[in-house]
Amino acid sequence: MPATILVGAQWGDEGKGRVADWLAAESDIVARYGGGDNAGHTVYVGDQVFKLHMVPSGILHERVVCVLGNGMVINPVNLVKEIEHLAQMGVPVEPARLLISARAHLITPAHIALDRASEQARGSQAIGTTLRGIGPAYLDKTGRRGIRAGEMLEADRFAERLRDAIKSANQTLAAQGMEPLDVEQAVEPYCEAAARLKPYIADTAVFLYERLRAGARVLCEGAQGTLLDVDHGSYPFVTSSSPTAGGALTGLGIGPGAVDRVVGAAKCFSTRVGSGPMPTELHDEVGDRLRGTGEHFWDEYGTTTGRPRRCGWLDGVMLRYAAAINGFTELVLTKLDVLSGFTALKLAVAYRLDGQTLAFPPAAAEALERVEPIYETLPGWQENLSQARQAADLPEAALQYIQRIAALCEVPVSAVSVGPERDQLVRF
Ligand code: GDP
Ligand code: IMO
Ligand code: MG
Repeated sequence: MPATILVGAQWGDEGKGRVADWLAAESDIVARYGGGDNAGHTVYVGDQVFKLHMVPSGILHERVVCVLGNGMVINPVNLVKEIEHLAQMGVPVEPARLLISARAHLITPAHIALDRASEQARGSQAIGTTLRGIGPAYLDKTGRRGIRAGEMLEADRFAERLRDAIKSANQTLAAQGMEPLDVEQAVEPYCEAAARLKPYIADTAVFLYERLRAGARVLCEGAQGTLLDVDHGSYPFVTSSSPTAGGALTGLGIGPGAVDRVVGAAKCFSTRVGSGPMPTELHDEVGDRLRGTGEHFWDEYGTTTGRPRRCGWLDGVMLRYAAAINGFTELVLTKLDVLSGFTALKLAVAYRLDGQTLAFPPAAAEALERVEPIYETLPGWQENLSQARQAADLPEAALQYIQRIAALCEVPVSAVSVGPERDQLVRF
């Protein structure tokens, strides 16, 4: 079984970190293929909560080698901080265990300032980005003026490239009435980080090619989610990369023939952080209950930004669309435990728009704003599921809910999680 792609099936935060942690146990390599530190992947091991932003979740398995693929945009200063933080938590990240693609693009202080400026300029139409500089970094990449990780190998030239990038951004910032960046203050920590990261830089595409040929099992760990994809999401309320399965191929430089498994991670209800259409969003006590109060680390508050997530019933239309776009071979459902205690559960199975019934979401965000979900009501259950470890431990109503999701998406559900801990998983 050579390569498995793990993709978020919704708007991110589906629990990819915990699913990746599970799949990593059967992998030799875990590779991130897109995004940057806009991601926040939580893995709960023993009594430690790991919040990973760029480093793949596989790092928590000693024998796994991790890769930051060419499709990523990397903030070198934050990556050094993340590596140091992991070391403090007892997970040393030696260069032998983490390879950074020389072709990955770098996020500079200019990108972060431009992200903020762009959001301010959009006013009420702001995307609600994570303000990590993601969009401007991908813009420079496709504009063919970005700085790549491999350039950190040549210190003087790297510093020069950074200075130029910041000076150029300062012109844009000044035009928008924003505070310019202090060039040297911005460059210095980046040069320090570059010196630290040098030994990690590699040709990861060739590494993956050789390891796959030798039979290594590779897990491609997606970030963000299908509905945030720059092509397939609710444009323009999306991120600037391709979190879908296709993005794993370009984001790592592997061919489709290497992949034999595409796992969709989906939460048993819907959440979204940031702006944009969300047909099943609830502004009532059900939404509040799904979100949680914030007293648990798994409650619905952003791992990266701490923002409360918008919550609602599971959107089966979006999930069916995600299954189609990615070609899921299986689905893993997370947070089933959170649905305990409802007398009934609602599941959106179609949309109504201008008198028509839709089985898939419309392309335009404006149309998606206007759709009315058509709900099916299923029986709820009262039992606490946190101790369930096999299908027989789940109440009939929970099994019925899972089966209905599988039928809607025409994809089998291979596992459901019933809590954030490693073993709180029911495999089918
Ligand atoms: P990711 O970005 O897709 O990796 O997801 P996040 O880590 O941002 O958010 C998912 C949250 O749900 C994390 O706090 C996880 O620890 C938590 N989580 C994952 N699976 C379960 C589960 O089955 N039950 C509960 N209660 N929490 C879970
Ligand atoms: P993980 O990997 C949830 C959202 C932002 C915003 C939009 C664009 O943890 O699932 P960006 O900073 O990427 O330009 O923001 O995308 N977003 C995420 N939402 N989980 C994520 O990552 C996200 N990464 C970006 O909230 O709406
Ligand atoms: Mg997250």
